[in-house]
Amino acid sequence: MTIAENPRPKTPADLPAAEPTATRPADEWWRSAVIYQIYPRSFADGNGDGMGDMSGITERLDALAELGVDAVWLSPFYRSPQRDGGYDVADYCDVDPIFGTLGDFDRMRERAHGFGLKVIVDLVPNHTSSEHEWFQQALASPEGSPERARYIFRDGKGKNGDVPPNNWESVFGGAAWTRTVNADGTPGQWYLHLFDSSQPDLDWNNPEVHAEFVRILRFWLDRGVDGFRVDVAHGLVKADGLPDFEKPLTGGSMGGAGVPLTPEIEGAAEPELPSTPYWAQEGVHEIYREWRRVLDEYEGDRILVAEAWVDPLTKLADWVRPDEMHQAFNFVYLETPWEGPALRRVIRDSLDAFGGVGAPSTWVLSNHDVVRHASRLALTAENPQGAGIGPNSEGKPIPEVGIRRARAASLLMLALPGSAYVYQGEDLGLPEVIDLPDEARQDPTWYRTGGERYGRDGCRVPIPWEAAAPAYGFSHTGESWLPQPEEWAELARDVQTGTPGSTLELYRAALRLRREHGLGIGRLEELDGYPDDVVAVRIGDVTVIANTGETPIELPAGELLLSSEPVGEAALAPDTTIWLRLQD
Ligand code: GLC
Repeated sequence: MTIAENPRPKTPADLPAAEPTATRPADEWWRSAVIYQIYPRSFADGNGDGMGDMSGITERLDALAELGVDAVWLSPFYRSPQRDGGYDVADYCDVDPIFGTLGDFDRMRERAHGFGLKVIVDLVPNHTSSEHEWFQQALASPEGSPERARYIFRDGKGKNGDVPPNNWESVFGGAAWTRTVNADGTPGQWYLHLFDSSQPDLDWNNPEVHAEFVRILRFWLDRGVDGFRVDVAHGLVKADGLPDFEKPLTGGSMGGAGVPLTPEIEGAAEPELPSTPYWAQEGVHEIYREWRRVLDEYEGDRILVAEAWVDPLTKLADWVRPDEMHQAFNFVYLETPWEGPALRRVIRDSLDAFGGVGAPSTWVLSNHDVVRHASRLALTAENPQGAGIGPNSEGKPIPEVGIRRARAASLLMLALPGSAYVYQGEDLGLPEVIDLPDEARQDPTWYRTGGERYGRDGCRVPIPWEAAAPAYGFSHTGESWLPQPEEWAELARDVQTGTPGSTLELYRAALRLRREHGLGIGRLEELDGYPDDVVAVRIGDVTVIANTGETPIELPAGELLLSSEPVGEAALAPDTTIWLRLQD
């Protein structure tokens, strides 16, 4: 076995051109794509006001092309009062002035395409902002009017109508209903909001809502986008009659279908879905079929990606049937602990479930809603999703354990067949920021729970580009809408570039080898004979071994392609992943 230290980053010229194990259909780029999530507020600030923007993104796209990703997905940059980081949209067909103009978007899109990067934008169809023209018209219109029928207005219960129409709770905490005030000052009807009160839910039984979203899809398709990530894609349709909901004991707070997302016992029967009257209703599928027909009219290979917190995977697979969406985020994978048996099971289940309907699996470890995996994988106490971590949290992560596991977990993920999502900054090994001052926090979760849940600001801190520059190169003025920790200087992109063993170089090498060995389109075979704590798989000519256990394991003879930590003496240390080409 030829294992020495962690290989230095290789340049393309160093690398033998490996035969891909299968041919990638040019017109189905999304089946194996690595898609990089840009959270525009925190990626790069072009105008120095401390808020990331479109021109900042445009200037920094070269770094993503060098990293070797295939596409970018931008979280919302539309006109919005920013009560939920832009997921409260006031105008779906314009860029918010804090991010720039439509012209700036066009320049960003052109530059991305110039680098060969596809561009996916976010579509937020479950709710609008309360400042959206439609909602303002609804408030100004009488009960029962067509303006109100675009949303879900209902009379309250009780003698004076002062009890909410049902018992549903907002994902961000508190009731899912807010009462309106009539023009004469008397209390009026209630409206539904599964998220913040500034995010009223649309009524998808209304044909006008359908027509409007087809118009919005066409607007962005005509502007050259390659696809849409569909927000809350499991929530658009609510059960008839809006019945009360008997809350189960467990469930994902971002809208999990109400069951634990990670089955704990290998081989355990799939948990039974309690029927949550606002998640995963059958009616959502017809909406996606309608949209798919629209996308299919367009040239090129444009895609729909579901953000659907649905478990089990066999149910989630319904979102990606051939006439619906192309991909769905695999949050079951994201929520899987760093444990061999659970990982083996979720990998198998994912490939089976998605493969069963002809869709690629996706893989994701971090995004703008969850604790960054460089911290999450080292938490030492329960941390329900959406709770976040802050100064008073129990079970804070041990940083050294977190980054080691994150690198190992990323290297496993990036080998898997299908499409992988990378959240900005995970390629730098950024941890969650735990000690944000209370007054800096902006997540509605923090306010709606009176500080009981910290929420998601800790994974949204502006990312570091240059160690020595103001705001680490995020903005030339040093402004940053959330404060950046001092320790981030040493994680800045410029410090990691070309540095052997850095997390950035690990990602670059992984993406290059992934492409060269056709891993994204390969077939995965599980390898026997390893301890229970170990995930060992072969994809094409690459053997991937991840040791999640506490003891080093013996390695088979082979050529080292890449490892998440330096590997020596033919043993794979705990919390390490390796890619090998085995000797015949
Ligand atoms: C999705 C988004 C999240 C947002 C919520 C409401 O889960 O990812 O950031 O708060 O929807 O739009």
